[in-house]
Amino acid sequence: MRTWHDRRILDLFGIELPIIQAPMAGATSVEMVIAASKAGGLGSLPSAQYSVQQLREELQRVTAETTGPINVNFFSHVTPDADPVGQMRWRALLASYYVEYGLDPAAALSGAGRAPFDTGFCEVVEEFRPKVVSFHFGLPDRSLVDRVRATGAKVLSSATTVDEAVWLEANGVDAVIAMGFEAGGHRGNFLTQDMTTQVGTMALVPQVVDAVRIPVIAAGGIADGRGVAAALMLGASAVQIGTAYLLTPEARIPKLHSTALQGAGDASTAITNVFTGRPARGVVNRLMRELGPLSDVAPAFPTAGAALAAIRSKAEAKGCNDFTNLWAGQAVRLAKRRPAAELTVQLFKDAMAVLEAGSTVHRP
Ligand SMILES: Cc1cc2nc3c(=O)[nH]c(=O)nc-3n(C[C@H](O)[C@H](O)[C@H](O)COP(=O)(O)O)c2cc1C
Repeated sequence: MRTWHDRRILDLFGIELPIIQAPMAGATSVEMVIAASKAGGLGSLPSAQYSVQQLREELQRVTAETTGPINVNFFSHVTPDADPVGQMRWRALLASYYVEYGLDPAAALSGAGRAPFDTGFCEVVEEFRPKVVSFHFGLPDRSLVDRVRATGAKVLSSATTVDEAVWLEANGVDAVIAMGFEAGGHRGNFLTQDMTTQVGTMALVPQVVDAVRIPVIAAGGIADGRGVAAALMLGASAVQIGTAYLLTPEARIPKLHSTALQGAGDASTAITNVFTGRPARGVVNRLMRELGPLSDVAPAFPTAGAALAAIRSKAEAKGCNDFTNLWAGQAVRLAKRRPAAELTVQLFKDAMAVLEAGSTVHRP
C-alpha cells in the first residue's frame, strides 16, 4: 500500500495507517478495536462507561486477539460535589416526562454516570501497558499522568482551541487531537465551557499545527477519503474518526440510534448538554428541542443522566428515541455501511487517491 510522507504518528504509535478509530463510550466494541488494529490503524477502547473490572475483561479480550498497538481512552473530569438543589431543579423540569410515562418523579435515582480516570484505572493501564493512552476533558492529576507515562504509553488528549493545544503540549502530551466543532459525542473542551469559542476542523487544525511542535491528529467531520486527505494537507499527521465507525457492524449502539443515523443529514445534529451536563453533539431529538439544546438547568457532568435513565428506558422499550443521546457528528451522511477493517483501509486508500489526483473532485 502507498504511504504518507509524514510518519510522526505512525512511528510514535507503531501503526501502518494514519487512521485512528475513535474511542466512543457506549458505541465502540472490542470487535471494532481489534478490526481497526489488525487493519493497520489504531483501535481505541473507551473506558468511561466501564468499571475497572469491565475494562480489565475487555482488554483481556482485545489482547487475546491482537498484539497490535491499541489506545485506551479515559475521561479526566472531576466528579462534582453533590448538588441536591440543582438536582431538584432538573427533576422539576423533567417532571412532565415522568408523568407522561407513568413514573414517580420522586423515585430514587441510579446509573447513567461516566467514571473519571483514577488509581483503579491506572492500575489496569500498568497491568496491560497499552501503547497509547488518550484522555478527554484535559488531563488527570499529574501523579496519575506520570504513572501512565512510566508504563511507556504515549499520552494524548483533545484540544478544541489553540489555547487548549498549547496547554496540553506544556503539560507533556506526546500528540494532540485537534477536535473540531463538527465532531460527534462530547466535546473535549476543558479550559472553557463557552461554546461560542469552539472552532471548526478546517480552521482549527492548521492553527494548532502552527502553535505546537508535537504531532497533531485531526478529528471532527472526517468521514471519507476526501476528509482524510484534507486533514493531512492541513498539516495533521493522522486523523481520528468516530461517526463513520458508528455505521460499521462492529458498532454497539441501540437500533434506534442507528436508525436515526441513517436518516440524518448535514443539519441534523446540534451540541447539547441535556443528556449528561456537558456539551456533546448528537442528532436532534425531542429532549434537545424541548429543553435545550443547551440548558442552564442541566446539572454538572455527568450527573444529568441519572434523572433521565428511567424515562429513557421506558421510551426505548416503545421504540422511541425521544430521550436517547443519539451522538453523531456533522459528517454522518458521508458514512457508508462497511466493516471496520475495510473502512480503516479504505479511508486511507481513498485519501491517497485524492492526493495523487491532486483534486478533491474524486468521489470515494
Ligand atoms: C458515539 C460517540 C461517543 C464518543 N465517546 C467518546 C469517548 O468515550 N471518549 C473520547 O475521547 N471521545 C469520544 N467521542 C469523540 C470521538 O472520539 C471523536 O473525537 C469524534 O467522534 C470525531 O469526530 P467525528 O464523529 O466527526 O468523526 C465520541 C464520539 C461519538 C460519536
